[in-house]
Amino acid sequence: MKYTTLPLTDIKVSKICLGTMTFGEQNNEVEGHQQMDYALAQGVNFFDTAELYSVPARPETYGATEKIIGSWFKKTGNRDKVVLASKIAGSGPYTSHIRNTGFSKEAISEAIDRSLQRLQTDYIDLYQLHWPERPVNCFGLRDFPYQLESSWQDNFADVLTTLDDFIKQGKIRHIGLSNESPWGTMRYLQESNVKNLPRMITIQNAYSLLHRTYEAGLSEISMRENIGLLAYSPLAFGVLTDKYLNNNTENSRVNLFPSFCGRYTTAQSKQAIKKYAAIAQKHNLTLAQLSLAFVNQLPFVTSNIIGATKMSQLKENIGSINIELSQEIIDEINAIHTLMPNPAA
Ligand SMILES: NC(=O)c1ccc[n+]([C@@H]2O[C@H](COP(=O)([O-])OP(=O)(O)OC[C@H]3O[C@@H](n4cnc5c(N)ncnc54)[C@H](OP(=O)(O)O)[C@@H]3O)[C@@H](O)[C@H]2O)c1
Repeated sequence: MKYTTLPLTDIKVSKICLGTMTFGEQNNEVEGHQQMDYALAQGVNFFDTAELYSVPARPETYGATEKIIGSWFKKTGNRDKVVLASKIAGSGPYTSHIRNTGFSKEAISEAIDRSLQRLQTDYIDLYQLHWPERPVNCFGLRDFPYQLESSWQDNFADVLTTLDDFIKQGKIRHIGLSNESPWGTMRYLQESNVKNLPRMITIQNAYSLLHRTYEAGLSEISMRENIGLLAYSPLAFGVLTDKYLNNNTENSRVNLFPSFCGRYTTAQSKQAIKKYAAIAQKHNLTLAQLSLAFVNQLPFVTSNIIGATKMSQLKENIGSINIELSQEIIDEINAIHTLMPNPAA
């Protein structure tokens, strides 16, 4: 395994982070425990979860993933071997049935206490805001209908002040963003600087060969402001794997939950996938290896959050850390990107 530190801290984290959002839906407790045992044995010491997991989010499975992680901590005593990231759900169309209280002091307090209970721990290393409260164009829509007159009020400093309180109580150690835009990220950093409040140290956003919009504005912020990307969905929900070329997709996320996966299955995405697959084949790599190795080597990525439903997938994905892409391969990837930029955005 390769390691780095969480920005502005001395907390050592693996460059591969274990995503857990399938635990409680596609994976049961036993399978979740197996994945965590294997990942830890391979040197993966960084796990990501959220109060709303498993996915697709349903009221019945709210908190299911955290419970599975909690029962593993209890069974194994491994809490101190893991750097644990979780999130409070943002209010909004995706999760209105789970949390519509936004990031008020009461909401954050309730979310942290419930997560700690389910996780059977007394601290979370990295606590993230899953979505901004305001409407944000995090998936790269054209002509996004910004609602400047919406009921959302600028509360960046209030949210940081509340989170500071929980850092001081020891319930969370550091804070991060997710699905955030350049504007929102800079507003948080500005408030931290001006008001001497804790600083967001990571941004967890989508990044894959099919969705590289992070490079347009946020990557510069990552590099200059030292706020690292935790790249999620690096296989674009699994479509950047050979099984989609071979039509071997029974019980896969895309088939089970088609409405959850729409942007990765457009005609443009399918065309791009074939082109990336050809590069992988030419260089004797699987498409998953190529896709993950590309994310692993990006200078603005702190850690690559992988996901798996089968142990064979988990092995392949963690193994991507040992694959070095030559400049020739990176140039070939970038040539496809120039032709077909961000088909899933
Ligand atoms: N902050 C956010 O809003 C957000 C959003 C999404 C994810 N995340 C985080 O990022 C983590 C990873 O996201 P993700 O699950 O979407 O990642 P992903 O890498 O894009 O997709 C993972 C899925 O692809 C399939 N797969 C994985 N490896 C494979 C392989 N080697 N061969 C064939 N199929 C393979 C599996 O699904 P099937 O077996 O069903 O095909 C697996 O569950 C999540 O667990 C979560 O922690 C965060």
